[in-house]
Amino acid sequence: MPGVVIIGTQWGDEGKGKIVDMLAADAAVVVRFQGGNNAGHTIVSDGETFKFHLIPSGILHPGRFCVIGNGVVVDPSVLIEEIEGLRRRRIDVSGLKVSANAHLIMPYHVMLDSAHEAKLGKLEIGTTKRGIGPCYADKSARLGIRVQDLLDAKILRKKIAAALEPKQQLLRPFARDPKLDLHAMTEEYLRYGHRLEPHIADTSRLCWDALDSGETVIFEGAQAALLDLDHGTYPFVTSSNPVAGAACVGAGVGPTDIDEVWGVCKAYTTRVGAGPFPTELSDQVGAHLRDGGHEFGTTTGRERRCGWLDLVALRYATRLNRLSALAITKLDVLSGLETLRVAVRYRGSEGAVFDEFPYHQSILHTATAEYEDLPGWEEDITGARSEADLPREAREYLEAISDSAGVPIRLIGVGPDRNQVIRVGAQARAAA
Ligand code: GDP
Ligand code: IMO
Ligand code: MG
Repeated sequence: MPGVVIIGTQWGDEGKGKIVDMLAADAAVVVRFQGGNNAGHTIVSDGETFKFHLIPSGILHPGRFCVIGNGVVVDPSVLIEEIEGLRRRRIDVSGLKVSANAHLIMPYHVMLDSAHEAKLGKLEIGTTKRGIGPCYADKSARLGIRVQDLLDAKILRKKIAAALEPKQQLLRPFARDPKLDLHAMTEEYLRYGHRLEPHIADTSRLCWDALDSGETVIFEGAQAALLDLDHGTYPFVTSSNPVAGAACVGAGVGPTDIDEVWGVCKAYTTRVGAGPFPTELSDQVGAHLRDGGHEFGTTTGRERRCGWLDLVALRYATRLNRLSALAITKLDVLSGLETLRVAVRYRGSEGAVFDEFPYHQSILHTATAEYEDLPGWEEDITGARSEADLPREAREYLEAISDSAGVPIRLIGVGPDRNQVIRVGAQARAAA
């Protein structure tokens, strides 16, 4: 499986970090290809918890290259903090490489993110306020500052001045903030450059070398299909493309380098921030999912909105990414619910039936989900390590998901720890 893309199929927080960490045991390179520190990935290894925002989820395996690809937007202060945090815990970070072409989140991007949200008022997107949108906007406007610019004081200063110039009016409320001073900002970013220099590399070449010699490269997606800038629930989306197709652009490889695409799907649904969510629950079941699944954001600590599994949305994500396998996570959280509901179609406000995810925003915003009911189970399944250990109802639930998506399930998560996973089919045979 040399080139494997791992992506989220819902609205994020599906447990991608845990799946990437597991699969990284057999990989040479793990490369993030989009997003920034809006992502929050929690990995639990032998009871020890690690939280990553920028560093790829393979870093706990020594000897791997962990690459921050050109498609990522990098806040260097956050990256340095993560590196220091790992060093303190004696995790080897020598394999961490950052693309010289990745764009930098600057202090003014973070300010603009908050300013845009404040301006939207009730219509706010609920961003993570990490400067992601404004940074990608500058990249598209060709006003971005890249990692390589950190290594040349003259260029850096010139580029910051050019990027600031058209933003003067928008930044007026922050005019007194010392972080906006051109000289201070340039000095601060030069210090970051000095600190990051050993990690800066031609990462597209590094991925190519590994793929060319038949080694496994994992392309780690952040966010998820329904937060995709083009295909998600626009405008309630992030500003990058978390779908599998973007892995090539964001890492600098070709489409024929991708052999498999794995979609990570929570056994129910969550969403952070605003936007449509047809299977959202605001009752006791929603509370059960939030409490049982500890559904609070890794990045912002916000309560995640919870709801039933949405098979209409999953089929959409399957198509957009042409998934070859599914990893179902957090199945354990459903234990104790008598009946499980899965959305099989939507009904529009005027009665029309939608078997497929509607492309029109106003339909999606008013659509209600129609469900099929499946029996739940009582048993605690956190100790299950093979499919046979699962109650019949849990196996039927998984079968219903796989049948609806038309994709085989290869991994099943039954708890947060790295070991709390069931390998299925080819995956189980390979591990045996
Ligand atoms: P990501 O952003 O997709 O990597 O997901 P997050 O790390 O933000 O959120 C997933 C949360 O669920 C984390 O706290 C994980 O430790 C946890 N988790 C992952 N897989 C499982 C699972 O199978 N069962 C349970 N109970 N928790 C899980
Ligand atoms: P991981 O990788 C869940 C959401 C925000 C907001 C929208 C836009 O952990 O799955 P942004 O700051 O990106 O401009 O915010 O996207 N969002 C996420 N939701 N998981 C994430 O990442 C997210 N990254 C962004 O809540 O609704
Ligand atoms: Mg997350």
